[in-house]
Amino acid sequence: MSLLHVINHPMVQHKLTIMRDKNTGSKDFRELLNEISLLMGYEVTRDIPLEDVEIETPICKMTAREVSGRKLAIVPILRAGLGMVEGLHTLVPVAKVGHIGLYRNEETHEPVEYYCKLPEDIQDRLVIVTDPMLATGGSACDAISMLKKKGCRNIRLMCLVSVPEGIKKVQNEHPDVDIYTAAVDDCLNENAYIVPGLGDAGDRIFGTK
Ligand code: PRP
Ligand code: URA
Repeated sequence: MSLLHVINHPMVQHKLTIMRDKNTGSKDFRELLNEISLLMGYEVTRDIPLEDVEIETPICKMTAREVSGRKLAIVPILRAGLGMVEGLHTLVPVAKVGHIGLYRNEETHEPVEYYCKLPEDIQDRLVIVTDPMLATGGSACDAISMLKKKGCRNIRLMCLVSVPEGIKKVQNEHPDVDIYTAAVDDCLNENAYIVPGLGDAGDRIFGTK
């Protein structure tokens, strides 16, 4: 069974509260998502292995620690997952970025694929899939399946707000994928929106409504 990591750091919670507020505009929403993504990235990468490296400080030689060969890829689920890329990239500037385009059919709530472009060596990388909203879990599960078809074996899912239903679906279909979230909300409404949630993440990031 995959692990569920709830990132309840006070600064993450504080920023998330401002994002949830319906009076927060797109500019602030984007900036806060960016900041939270960097803070969450700190936890998502917490167990990345280190190796010894010999360096020389201005004072003397020393054996220091650096991140070992394992490479990283960030894969946002379009559109809203894009809002979490910059923060992670600030933390890991050498990470490559792939894109998976999925949108939910408004009636069935099933994800529909429309784009996929991934780094050539994606199967050799630790992949962090980003999407602020884990609702029914359909989009996350499809994106993870697409990555597995390309040979990825080391995948983590980073979202902002989730619900038990979506978490359960990911854990059932992809028990090898750990989930990182800043909040586990109550439930889904009749339109499969998260309650209380923060509304439509894509629209709030890009100002489309
Ligand atoms: C939203 C969100 C997730 C998906 C979550 O995307 O960004 O990708 O819904 O819902 P699920 O867990 O029920 O699949 P949306 O389809 O609204 O597309 P957008 O990001 O392009 O607005
Ligand atoms: N997608 C969103 O953007 N928000 C939700 O609450 C559910 C799916």
